[in-house]
Amino acid sequence: MTDTVKKYAPANFIVGYRISQEAIHGRNVGYTWHEAVQLVDRITKLYHLDYVHLSMLQYDAKPGDNLLMDIDGAAARKYCDSKKPFATLFKPYLNGAKEIVVGSVVDRHSAEVASKLADIVAVGRENLIDPLFAEKLINNKDWQIVSAVSPAQVAKTHLTPGLIDTFSSVNTVMPLPGAATLRRLHNGFGGWAEMKYGHNPEMKN
Ligand SMILES: Cc1cc2nc3c(=O)[nH]c(=O)nc-3n(C[C@H](O)[C@H](O)[C@H](O)COP(=O)(O)O)c2cc1C
Repeated sequence: MTDTVKKYAPANFIVGYRISQEAIHGRNVGYTWHEAVQLVDRITKLYHLDYVHLSMLQYDAKPGDNLLMDIDGAAARKYCDSKKPFATLFKPYLNGAKEIVVGSVVDRHSAEVASKLADIVAVGRENLIDPLFAEKLINNKDWQIVSAVSPAQVAKTHLTPGLIDTFSSVNTVMPLPGAATLRRLHNGFGGWAEMKYGHNPEMKN
């Protein structure tokens, strides 16, 4: 891919890599953060990457924060092995690539703390709620920041029907402040739990 970018893309085209820092679901271990940093170290040495983006729900997430299906706590005992945030743990392995963190940046305080941890701070859901979030912060208009969705706000920001369905679903996987006020706008498919599959005898019920 970096070869293709070099050949065809404009000179200032940036290429990065987004990674989940660990994949541990109870006893089912895909990889640990120790393995993930080895991968990041390797690819940032082999290729020119402009950034490495840590895929997180919380900008200061730490090892083991998102352990799923850890019914007996065995995974937590084994994999919660550092009190440092991933942002700090991945830094020595970036080889010049910029580090991006993301997750639950919703106001000046969280934006400032996150920006101390990494080179770049990304904002997901708050930007969907208020696309002028960053502009308002930069211009010291914090009091104008909208922090929750409402039928009026989604009309103002022209949130797409697909995103309205995603967030207004009772079973949403991405909770959003104020989402309950959107329930009456829910119009079909929102979350995985609402997926309708065609009949397939090989599928589990
Ligand atoms: C509608 C939606 C779809 C997302 N899809 C993905 C995805 O496909 N892959 C991924 O790694 N993260 C995905 N995310 C997670 C975000 O990239 C981000 O890590 C997360 O929303 C936390 O940041 P935030 O608190 O600023 O929203 C998605 C988030 C939202 C709101």
